[in-house]
Amino acid sequence: MTQSRRFRIAAIPGDGVGAEVVAAGRQVLDALAADSGGALEFAWTEFPWGCDHYARTGAMMDDDGLERVRGFDALYFGAVGWPTVPDHVSLWGLRLRLCQNLDQWANVRPVHFLPGVTGPLRAADTEDLDWVVVRENSEGEYGGFGGRNFSGRGPGAEVAVQSAVFTEAGCERIMRFAFDLARTRARRKVSSVTKSNAQQYGMVLWDEVFARVAADYPDVETESVLVDAMAAKFVLRPQDLSVVVASNLHADILSDLGSALAGSLGLAASANLNPERRFPGMFEPVHGSAPDIAGQGVCNPVGAIGSAALMLRHLGLPAEADRVERAVRAACAQGVLTRDVGGTATTKDVTAAVVDHLGD
Ligand code: NAI
Ligand code: MG
Repeated sequence: MTQSRRFRIAAIPGDGVGAEVVAAGRQVLDALAADSGGALEFAWTEFPWGCDHYARTGAMMDDDGLERVRGFDALYFGAVGWPTVPDHVSLWGLRLRLCQNLDQWANVRPVHFLPGVTGPLRAADTEDLDWVVVRENSEGEYGGFGGRNFSGRGPGAEVAVQSAVFTEAGCERIMRFAFDLARTRARRKVSSVTKSNAQQYGMVLWDEVFARVAADYPDVETESVLVDAMAAKFVLRPQDLSVVVASNLHADILSDLGSALAGSLGLAASANLNPERRFPGMFEPVHGSAPDIAGQGVCNPVGAIGSAALMLRHLGLPAEADRVERAVRAACAQGVLTRDVGGTATTKDVTAAVVDHLGD
Protein backbone atom coordinates (compact mmCIF):
# COMPACT_ATOMS: atom_id res chain seq x y z
CA MET A 1 0.00 0.00 0.00
CA THR A 2 1.56 3.29 -1.00
CA GLN A 3 0.66 6.33 0.93
CA SER A 4 1.07 9.72 -0.66
CA ARG A 5 4.12 11.43 0.74
CA ARG A 6 4.34 15.19 0.45
CA PHE A 7 7.54 17.05 1.18
CA ARG A 8 7.82 20.80 1.69
CA ILE A 9 11.11 22.03 0.26
CA ALA A 10 12.55 25.53 0.59
CA ALA A 11 14.46 26.30 -2.62
CA ILE A 12 17.20 28.91 -2.25
CA PRO A 13 18.84 29.32 -5.68
CA GLY A 14 21.13 32.18 -4.55
CA ASP A 15 23.49 33.69 -7.10
CA GLY A 16 25.03 32.97 -10.50
CA VAL A 17 24.72 29.38 -11.67
CA GLY A 18 22.84 28.60 -8.44
CA ALA A 19 19.56 29.45 -10.18
CA GLU A 20 20.39 27.29 -13.20
CA VAL A 21 21.39 24.20 -11.25
CA VAL A 22 18.55 24.44 -8.71
CA ALA A 23 16.08 24.63 -11.61
CA ALA A 24 17.69 21.46 -13.02
CA GLY A 25 17.39 19.58 -9.73
CA ARG A 26 13.78 20.67 -9.30
CA GLN A 27 12.96 19.45 -12.79
CA VAL A 28 14.37 16.00 -11.98
CA LEU A 29 12.48 15.73 -8.68
CA ASP A 30 9.25 16.97 -10.25
CA ALA A 31 9.62 14.33 -13.00
CA LEU A 32 10.09 11.71 -10.30
CA ALA A 33 6.93 12.90 -8.54
CA ALA A 34 4.93 13.05 -11.78
CA ASP A 35 5.93 9.45 -12.43
CA SER A 36 5.01 8.22 -8.95
CA GLY A 37 1.27 7.86 -9.54
CA GLY A 38 0.55 10.30 -6.74
CA ALA A 39 2.77 8.53 -4.20
CA LEU A 40 5.20 11.41 -4.04
CA GLU A 41 4.81 15.16 -4.08
CA PHE A 42 7.23 18.05 -3.67
CA ALA A 43 5.79 21.40 -2.62
CA TRP A 44 8.37 24.07 -3.39
CA THR A 45 8.68 27.51 -1.86
CA GLU A 46 11.36 29.68 -3.40
CA PHE A 47 13.28 32.26 -1.36
CA PRO A 48 14.95 34.93 -3.53
CA TRP A 49 17.90 35.49 -1.20
CA GLY A 50 21.41 36.34 -2.32
CA CYS A 51 23.40 39.27 -3.67
CA ASP A 52 20.46 40.84 -5.58
CA HIS A 53 18.46 40.78 -2.36
CA TYR A 54 21.44 42.44 -0.67
CA ALA A 55 21.48 45.19 -3.31
CA ARG A 56 17.76 45.81 -2.73
CA THR A 57 17.59 45.52 1.05
CA GLY A 58 21.11 45.62 2.49
CA ALA A 59 20.76 42.06 3.80
CA MET A 60 21.51 38.69 2.21
CA MET A 61 18.26 37.17 3.52
CA ASP A 62 15.12 38.34 5.30
CA ASP A 63 15.38 38.99 9.03
CA ASP A 64 12.73 36.39 9.79
CA GLY A 65 14.24 34.01 7.20
CA LEU A 66 15.51 31.47 9.72
CA GLU A 67 12.06 31.23 11.31
CA ARG A 68 10.49 30.78 7.90
CA VAL A 69 12.71 27.95 6.68
CA ARG A 70 12.88 26.07 9.99
CA GLY A 71 9.60 24.23 9.42
CA PHE A 72 10.45 22.86 5.97
CA ASP A 73 11.38 19.23 5.43
CA ALA A 74 14.58 20.26 3.65
CA LEU A 75 16.37 23.20 2.07
CA TYR A 76 17.65 22.93 -1.50
CA PHE A 77 20.43 25.43 -2.04
CA GLY A 78 22.29 26.65 -5.15
CA ALA A 79 25.30 28.86 -4.41
CA VAL A 80 25.95 32.26 -2.94
CA GLY A 81 28.39 34.97 -3.93
CA TRP A 82 28.74 37.57 -6.68
CA PRO A 83 31.49 40.07 -7.52
CA THR A 84 29.29 42.98 -6.38
CA VAL A 85 29.36 41.90 -2.71
CA PRO A 86 32.47 40.97 -0.67
CA ASP A 87 32.56 37.18 -0.34
CA HIS A 88 32.76 37.19 3.45
CA VAL A 89 29.59 39.29 3.57
CA SER A 90 27.63 37.05 1.18
CA LEU A 91 28.84 33.74 2.65
CA TRP A 92 28.29 34.71 6.30
CA GLY A 93 25.03 36.47 5.48
CA LEU A 94 23.39 33.45 3.89
CA ARG A 95 25.03 30.03 3.68
CA LEU A 96 26.94 30.08 6.96
CA ARG A 97 24.00 31.79 8.68
CA LEU A 98 21.68 28.97 7.60
CA CYS A 99 24.11 26.12 8.37
CA GLN A 100 25.09 27.48 11.77
CA ASN A 101 21.64 28.44 13.01
CA LEU A 102 20.03 25.25 11.76
CA ASP A 103 22.86 23.40 13.58
CA GLN A 104 23.78 21.43 10.45
CA TRP A 105 27.01 20.24 12.01
CA ALA A 106 27.76 17.42 9.58
CA ASN A 107 28.52 18.15 5.93
CA VAL A 108 28.57 14.99 3.82
CA ARG A 109 30.39 15.25 0.46
CA PRO A 110 30.63 12.12 -1.67
CA VAL A 111 33.19 11.91 -4.45
CA HIS A 112 33.01 9.25 -7.13
CA PHE A 113 33.81 8.70 -10.75
CA LEU A 114 31.03 8.85 -13.33
CA PRO A 115 31.07 6.68 -16.42
CA GLY A 116 31.87 8.70 -19.53
CA VAL A 117 33.55 11.47 -17.55
CA THR A 118 37.32 11.36 -17.87
CA GLY A 119 39.03 12.61 -14.77
CA PRO A 120 42.66 13.62 -14.69
CA LEU A 121 43.49 10.36 -12.85
CA ARG A 122 43.38 8.31 -15.99
CA ALA A 123 44.83 5.22 -14.37
CA ALA A 124 41.92 4.91 -11.97
CA ASP A 125 38.80 3.16 -13.18
CA THR A 126 35.25 3.80 -12.02
CA GLU A 127 35.64 1.61 -8.94
CA ASP A 128 38.76 3.32 -7.75
CA LEU A 129 37.38 6.63 -6.77
CA ASP A 130 34.46 6.43 -4.37
CA TRP A 131 34.80 8.18 -1.09
CA VAL A 132 32.89 10.52 1.20
CA VAL A 133 34.38 13.59 2.81
CA VAL A 134 32.71 14.25 6.17
CA ARG A 135 33.24 17.87 7.03
CA GLU A 136 32.94 19.31 10.52
CA ASN A 137 30.47 22.06 9.71
CA SER A 138 29.94 24.03 12.90
CA GLU A 139 33.25 25.17 14.37
CA GLY A 140 36.98 24.82 13.70
CA GLU A 141 38.46 27.46 11.42
CA TYR A 142 35.00 28.79 10.43
CA GLY A 143 33.75 29.36 13.98
CA GLY A 144 33.87 33.10 13.38
CA PHE A 145 35.99 33.94 16.42
CA GLY A 146 38.40 36.83 16.18
CA GLY A 147 38.50 40.49 15.48
CA ARG A 148 40.37 43.39 13.94
CA ASN A 149 41.93 46.20 15.89
CA PHE A 150 44.58 48.93 15.96
CA SER A 151 43.54 50.54 12.65
CA GLY A 152 43.44 53.81 14.62
CA ARG A 153 47.21 53.64 15.01
CA GLY A 154 47.55 54.59 11.38
CA PRO A 155 48.27 52.99 8.06
CA GLY A 156 49.92 49.59 8.15
CA ALA A 157 49.26 49.00 11.87
CA GLU A 158 46.05 46.99 11.82
CA VAL A 159 45.99 43.53 13.41
CA ALA A 160 43.53 40.69 12.73
CA VAL A 161 43.05 37.54 14.77
CA GLN A 162 41.10 34.60 13.31
CA SER A 163 40.93 31.78 15.82
CA ALA A 164 40.06 28.18 15.12
CA VAL A 165 37.90 26.66 17.83
CA PHE A 166 37.84 22.92 18.46
CA THR A 167 35.58 21.53 21.15
CA GLU A 168 35.82 17.98 22.37
CA ALA A 169 32.08 17.55 21.86
CA GLY A 170 32.23 18.97 18.34
CA CYS A 171 35.10 16.68 17.35
CA GLU A 172 33.50 13.64 18.92
CA ARG A 173 30.11 13.99 17.25
CA ILE A 174 31.51 14.42 13.74
CA MET A 175 33.89 11.50 14.23
CA ARG A 176 31.13 9.19 15.48
CA PHE A 177 29.08 10.28 12.49
CA ALA A 178 31.99 9.32 10.20
CA PHE A 179 32.45 5.93 11.84
CA ASP A 180 28.72 5.16 11.66
CA LEU A 181 28.79 6.09 7.98
CA ALA A 182 31.84 3.86 7.38
CA ARG A 183 29.89 0.91 8.79
CA THR A 184 27.33 1.31 5.98
CA ARG A 185 29.99 1.14 3.25
CA ALA A 186 31.73 -1.74 1.48
CA ARG A 187 35.10 -0.52 2.75
CA ARG A 188 34.93 0.13 6.49
CA LYS A 189 37.64 2.69 6.89
CA VAL A 190 37.87 6.20 8.34
CA SER A 191 40.79 8.48 7.52
CA SER A 192 41.21 11.45 9.85
CA VAL A 193 42.79 14.59 8.43
CA THR A 194 45.02 16.45 10.84
CA LYS A 195 47.78 19.04 11.09
CA SER A 196 48.80 18.32 14.66
CA ASN A 197 52.48 18.60 13.86
CA ALA A 198 52.09 22.34 13.39
CA GLN A 199 48.87 23.12 15.26
CA GLN A 200 49.62 21.80 18.71
CA TYR A 201 46.35 22.69 20.47
CA GLY A 202 43.27 22.28 18.30
CA MET A 203 44.60 19.54 16.06
CA VAL A 204 46.13 17.58 18.93
CA LEU A 205 42.73 17.58 20.63
CA TRP A 206 41.26 16.45 17.29
CA ASP A 207 43.74 13.52 17.17
CA GLU A 208 43.09 12.51 20.77
CA VAL A 209 39.33 12.43 20.26
CA PHE A 210 39.81 10.45 17.05
CA ALA A 211 41.85 7.80 18.88
CA ARG A 212 39.25 7.59 21.65
CA VAL A 213 36.28 7.30 19.27
CA ALA A 214 38.12 4.77 17.07
CA ALA A 215 38.44 2.44 20.05
CA ASP A 216 34.63 2.11 20.05
CA TYR A 217 34.69 0.91 16.43
CA PRO A 218 37.18 -1.99 16.36
CA ASP A 219 35.59 -3.27 13.13
CA VAL A 220 36.53 -0.08 11.27
CA GLU A 221 40.05 0.44 9.89
CA THR A 222 41.56 3.85 10.69
CA GLU A 223 44.41 6.12 9.75
CA SER A 224 45.43 9.65 10.65
CA VAL A 225 47.03 11.65 7.84
CA LEU A 226 48.43 15.20 7.78
CA VAL A 227 46.41 17.46 5.50
CA ASP A 228 49.24 18.13 3.06
CA ALA A 229 49.97 14.42 2.73
CA MET A 230 46.25 13.79 2.34
CA ALA A 231 46.13 16.19 -0.62
CA ALA A 232 48.83 14.07 -2.26
CA LYS A 233 47.03 10.87 -1.34
CA PHE A 234 43.80 12.06 -2.99
CA VAL A 235 45.78 12.21 -6.25
CA LEU A 236 48.13 9.26 -5.85
CA ARG A 237 46.16 6.64 -3.90
CA PRO A 238 42.45 7.47 -4.15
CA GLN A 239 41.59 3.77 -3.91
CA ASP A 240 42.87 3.84 -0.30
CA LEU A 241 40.04 6.08 0.90
CA SER A 242 36.49 5.42 2.00
CA VAL A 243 35.33 7.95 4.62
CA VAL A 244 37.52 11.01 5.19
CA VAL A 245 36.73 13.09 8.29
CA ALA A 246 38.20 16.57 8.47
CA SER A 247 37.81 20.00 10.02
CA ASN A 248 35.75 22.73 8.39
CA LEU A 249 38.62 24.31 6.41
CA HIS A 250 40.51 21.13 5.59
CA ALA A 251 37.39 19.39 4.28
CA ASP A 252 36.38 22.49 2.32
CA ILE A 253 39.66 22.41 0.41
CA LEU A 254 39.89 18.63 0.06
CA SER A 255 36.36 18.28 -1.29
CA ASP A 256 37.09 20.73 -4.12
CA LEU A 257 40.22 18.71 -4.87
CA GLY A 258 38.13 15.54 -4.83
CA SER A 259 35.55 16.89 -7.27
CA ALA A 260 38.26 18.20 -9.57
CA LEU A 261 39.83 14.73 -9.57
CA ALA A 262 36.50 13.21 -10.50
CA GLY A 263 36.43 15.60 -13.47
CA SER A 264 34.89 18.94 -12.43
CA LEU A 265 33.72 21.07 -9.55
CA GLY A 266 30.31 20.89 -11.18
CA LEU A 267 29.95 17.18 -10.31
CA ALA A 268 30.15 17.17 -6.52
CA ALA A 269 27.09 16.94 -4.28
CA SER A 270 26.77 17.79 -0.61
CA ALA A 271 24.39 17.50 2.33
CA ASN A 272 24.47 19.76 5.40
CA LEU A 273 22.84 17.71 8.13
CA ASN A 274 21.57 18.18 11.63
CA PRO A 275 21.83 14.48 12.48
CA GLU A 276 19.50 14.85 15.50
CA ARG A 277 16.88 16.08 13.01
CA ARG A 278 15.87 19.04 15.13
CA PHE A 279 16.29 21.17 11.99
CA PRO A 280 15.91 20.49 8.27
CA GLY A 281 19.04 19.62 6.28
CA MET A 282 20.34 21.75 3.43
CA PHE A 283 21.39 20.12 0.17
CA GLU A 284 23.67 21.96 -2.27
CA PRO A 285 26.32 21.36 -4.88
CA VAL A 286 29.87 21.91 -3.62
CA HIS A 287 30.63 24.59 -6.23
CA GLY A 288 30.02 28.32 -5.97
CA SER A 289 28.12 30.75 -8.19
CA ALA A 290 30.63 30.46 -11.09
CA PRO A 291 30.34 34.08 -12.31
CA ASP A 292 32.60 33.21 -15.27
CA ILE A 293 29.95 30.98 -16.86
CA ALA A 294 26.70 32.12 -15.17
CA GLY A 295 23.75 32.93 -17.42
CA GLN A 296 25.08 31.01 -20.42
CA GLY A 297 23.10 27.83 -19.79
CA VAL A 298 26.23 25.69 -19.84
CA CYS A 299 26.90 24.96 -16.17
CA ASN A 300 26.99 21.34 -15.08
CA PRO A 301 23.82 20.41 -13.14
CA VAL A 302 25.15 17.02 -11.96
CA GLY A 303 26.35 18.27 -8.56
CA ALA A 304 22.97 19.87 -7.86
CA ILE A 305 21.03 16.83 -9.10
CA GLY A 306 23.27 14.58 -6.98
CA SER A 307 22.48 16.84 -4.01
CA ALA A 308 18.78 16.32 -4.72
CA ALA A 309 19.43 12.56 -4.52
CA LEU A 310 21.11 13.03 -1.12
CA MET A 311 18.02 14.99 -0.07
CA LEU A 312 15.74 12.12 -1.14
CA ARG A 313 17.80 9.64 0.89
CA HIS A 314 17.66 11.89 3.95
CA LEU A 315 13.88 12.21 3.54
CA GLY A 316 13.54 8.44 3.72
CA LEU A 317 13.29 7.75 -0.01
CA PRO A 318 16.35 5.53 -0.72
CA ALA A 319 14.86 3.82 -3.79
CA GLU A 320 14.09 7.19 -5.40
CA ALA A 321 17.59 8.45 -4.53
CA ASP A 322 19.13 5.39 -6.20
CA ARG A 323 16.96 6.00 -9.23
CA VAL A 324 18.18 9.59 -9.63
CA GLU A 325 21.83 8.54 -9.14
CA ARG A 326 21.43 5.74 -11.70
CA ALA A 327 19.85 8.19 -14.17
CA VAL A 328 22.80 10.59 -13.74
CA ARG A 329 25.26 7.76 -14.41
CA ALA A 330 23.30 6.68 -17.47
CA ALA A 331 23.19 10.22 -18.90
CA CYS A 332 26.95 10.58 -18.40
CA ALA A 333 27.68 7.13 -19.84
CA GLN A 334 25.64 8.10 -22.89
CA GLY A 335 27.99 11.06 -23.36
CA VAL A 336 25.56 13.85 -22.54
CA LEU A 337 28.15 16.08 -20.88
CA THR A 338 28.59 19.81 -20.33
CA ARG A 339 31.77 21.46 -21.53
CA ASP A 340 33.54 21.47 -18.14
CA VAL A 341 33.77 17.67 -18.52
CA GLY A 342 34.65 17.71 -22.20
CA GLY A 343 31.20 17.69 -23.80
CA THR A 344 29.05 20.17 -25.70
CA ALA A 345 25.68 19.66 -24.01
CA THR A 346 23.85 22.50 -22.26
CA THR A 347 22.53 22.45 -18.70
CA LYS A 348 19.06 21.77 -20.12
CA ASP A 349 20.31 18.89 -22.33
CA VAL A 350 21.90 17.14 -19.35
CA THR A 351 18.84 17.69 -17.18
CA ALA A 352 16.54 16.33 -19.91
CA ALA A 353 18.78 13.27 -20.35
CA VAL A 354 18.67 12.57 -16.61
CA VAL A 355 14.88 12.90 -16.62
CA ASP A 356 14.69 10.50 -19.61
CA HIS A 357 16.80 7.92 -17.81
CA LEU A 358 14.63 8.02 -14.68
CA GLY A 359 12.48 5.50 -16.53
CA ASP A 360 15.33 3.01 -17.15
P1 NAI B 1 33.14 28.42 -8.13
O1 NAI B 1 32.89 27.06 -7.58
O2 NAI B 1 31.95 29.26 -8.36
O3 NAI B 1 33.92 28.29 -9.53
C1 NAI B 1 35.23 27.71 -9.65
C2 NAI B 1 35.41 27.19 -11.09
O4 NAI B 1 34.59 26.02 -11.27
C3 NAI B 1 34.99 28.20 -12.14
O5 NAI B 1 35.87 28.12 -13.23
C4 NAI B 1 33.60 27.72 -12.56
O6 NAI B 1 33.25 28.02 -13.87
C5 NAI B 1 33.70 26.20 -12.33
N1 NAI B 1 32.38 25.67 -11.97
C6 NAI B 1 31.74 25.83 -10.79
N2 NAI B 1 30.53 25.26 -10.84
C7 NAI B 1 30.39 24.73 -12.06
C8 NAI B 1 29.34 24.03 -12.72
N3 NAI B 1 28.19 23.73 -12.11
N4 NAI B 1 29.55 23.65 -13.99
C9 NAI B 1 30.70 23.91 -14.63
N5 NAI B 1 31.71 24.57 -14.08
C10 NAI B 1 31.56 24.99 -12.79
O7 NAI B 1 34.18 29.13 -7.14
P2 NAI B 1 34.74 30.65 -7.14
O8 NAI B 1 34.86 31.14 -8.54
O9 NAI B 1 35.91 30.58 -6.28
O10 NAI B 1 33.65 31.49 -6.37
C11 NAI B 1 32.61 32.22 -7.00
C12 NAI B 1 31.65 32.73 -5.95
O11 NAI B 1 30.98 31.62 -5.33
C13 NAI B 1 32.33 33.51 -4.82
O12 NAI B 1 31.49 34.59 -4.49
C14 NAI B 1 32.40 32.51 -3.66
O13 NAI B 1 32.39 33.12 -2.39
C15 NAI B 1 31.13 31.72 -3.90
N6 NAI B 1 31.13 30.35 -3.35
C16 NAI B 1 29.98 29.93 -2.76
C17 NAI B 1 29.86 28.65 -2.30
C18 NAI B 1 28.54 28.23 -1.72
O14 NAI B 1 27.56 28.94 -1.83
N7 NAI B 1 28.45 27.07 -1.12
C19 NAI B 1 30.97 27.69 -2.39
C20 NAI B 1 32.13 28.22 -3.08
C21 NAI B 1 32.20 29.51 -3.53
MG1 MG C 1 34.05 25.17 -0.76
